[in-house]
Amino acid sequence: MDINPESISRYCESMSTCPSPLTEELAVFTREHVAMSVMLSGPLVGSFLGFLVSLLKARCVLEIGTYTGYSALCMAERLPVDGHLITLDINRETTDIARRFWGRSEGGKKIELRLGDAMETLAVLPGPFDLVFIDADKPGYPNYLEACLPKLSPLGVIVADNALFSGEVVNPVTATRNGQAVAAFNDLVRNNPQLESVLLPVRDGLNVIRRRA
Ligand SMILES: C[S@@+](CC[C@H](N)C(=O)[O-])C[C@H]1O[C@@H](n2cnc3c(N)ncnc32)[C@H](O)[C@@H]1O
Repeated sequence: MDINPESISRYCESMSTCPSPLTEELAVFTREHVAMSVMLSGPLVGSFLGFLVSLLKARCVLEIGTYTGYSALCMAERLPVDGHLITLDINRETTDIARRFWGRSEGGKKIELRLGDAMETLAVLPGPFDLVFIDADKPGYPNYLEACLPKLSPLGVIVADNALFSGEVVNPVTATRNGQAVAAFNDLVRNNPQLESVLLPVRDGLNVIRRRA
C-alpha cells in the first residue's frame, strides 16, 4: 500500500529543517554498503525526532534499535551540551558503522551504545528518559512499552516507528507476523486509559505516546 506518494514525501522533506549533512552521509553510506537499508528511518523521521528533542527540552533520550546509528545521530545533534542518548542493539557489525560516524561530530559523542538484547539491557537502565524511540523487532514493542513507561520522565514521550507497517495494520487478517504485531501494539496503546497517543502517517507511521496528564 502506497501510504505516502514519493513526490509528497520528497516535498515534505524539502520543506522541513534537515538533520545535518553528516546524517545524510551516513544514510548514503548505509544504502550503498549495508544490508537491509530499508531499516533506516530517514530524513523526515529524523527531523521530527530532532524537533521533539528540542521541543521537550530533552536531556536524556533512549533509543531501542540502533542499526547504523542514523536516528540516534539525528536526536543527539539536538541535545544540549550535557545531554545523553543511550541506544540499544544486538548487532555489532552495524553498530560499528554507527560508532565510526558518531565519532565525527560533537552530537555523536553524546551517544552511548549498549550491545545486547534490548529487554535485558532495559532491565538495568534506571532512567528517567525524556524521549524514547522504539524501533527494534516489532513483536517486542509491547514489552518495550511496558519496560519504558515506569522510566519515562513526567512529561516524557515515547515514539514507536513503523506504526503503519506499510499499511498492513488496516487489514490484520492478510498482514504478515510483523504487521499483526504492530497492529496489536497500536490496539494496546489505544486501549490503555493511562495513555494518550496520536498515530501520524509520517513515512511508515509514528505512534507518539505519553502518559495522560
Ligand atoms: C529498524 S532497525 C533500527 C533503525 C534505526 N533506528 C534507524 O533509524 O536508522 C532495527 C534494529 O533493531 C535491532 N534489534 C532487533 N531485535 C533486537 C533486540 N531484541 N534487542 C536489541 N536490538 C534489536 C536490529 O539489530 C536492528 O539494528
